[in-house]
Amino acid sequence: MRRPILAANWKMNLTSADVSAYTNRFIPLVADAKDVDIVIAAPFTLLDRLANELAGTAIQAAGQNVHPEESGAFTGEIAAAMLADMGCAYAIVGHSERRALFGESSAFVAKKASALLRCEIRPIVCVGETLQQRDAGRALEVVETQLRESLAEIPGEQAEQVVVAYEPVWAIGTGRTATPEIAQEVHAHIRKQLSAQFGEAGNRIRIQYGGSVKPETVYDLMNQPDIDGALVGGASLDPEAFSRIVLYQNQRNP
Ligand code: PGA
Repeated sequence: MRRPILAANWKMNLTSADVSAYTNRFIPLVADAKDVDIVIAAPFTLLDRLANELAGTAIQAAGQNVHPEESGAFTGEIAAAMLADMGCAYAIVGHSERRALFGESSAFVAKKASALLRCEIRPIVCVGETLQQRDAGRALEVVETQLRESLAEIPGEQAEQVVVAYEPVWAIGTGRTATPEIAQEVHAHIRKQLSAQFGEAGNRIRIQYGGSVKPETVYDLMNQPDIDGALVGGASLDPEAFSRIVLYQNQRNP
């Protein structure tokens, strides 16, 4: 059994005063969530405060990006060891916003993922097609290529540390969630590829869905055989909404 993983991606939102207001509300709401991993990916400036607020809970802080080099003349960048120093257990790499707005290639993402593993941080590696690519019937092929190139530097013995996030670009921040069936089709394809690359370990890698996940849509998504979690942007900024997503088993529509 793969342990479900529900992750918030705050993106470029919130300031330090918001963090304790959020955690004071969120932590008690998810106190009963026992069999899931809960992760909050915050801006770098909030990680120290967030990790302090989360100390003593099972909720883990995450970075939203990392630079692959260990140190040096990379003005404005943050190294994996610095994320570890802030108490991060996970970091997102290859988010579609970074690929599209900052020109990040899958080869660069691969270097980031292996840099994180060297510091014992679990990478959440994002892949996903654009609407144009889906309409051209190329969704599976695009995801397959991104995944192969982005995981190219993962040592087999560390494969299980990796989390993959399938985030169709057309569903991010648009209010248009992929149907559970569309998402499952891609997740099953990703699963096959992970098993081909990593053998039995590929079967244990968790695959999250991301793209306009809401409390109302999470149950049916999580009910699919190859959907093991969610990466949540907009709805995660509201601690109440994100807590309902974490408690997805209670969200079944009557
Ligand atoms: P969204 O973002 O939930 O606002 O669509 C998801 C993501 O980009 O990780």
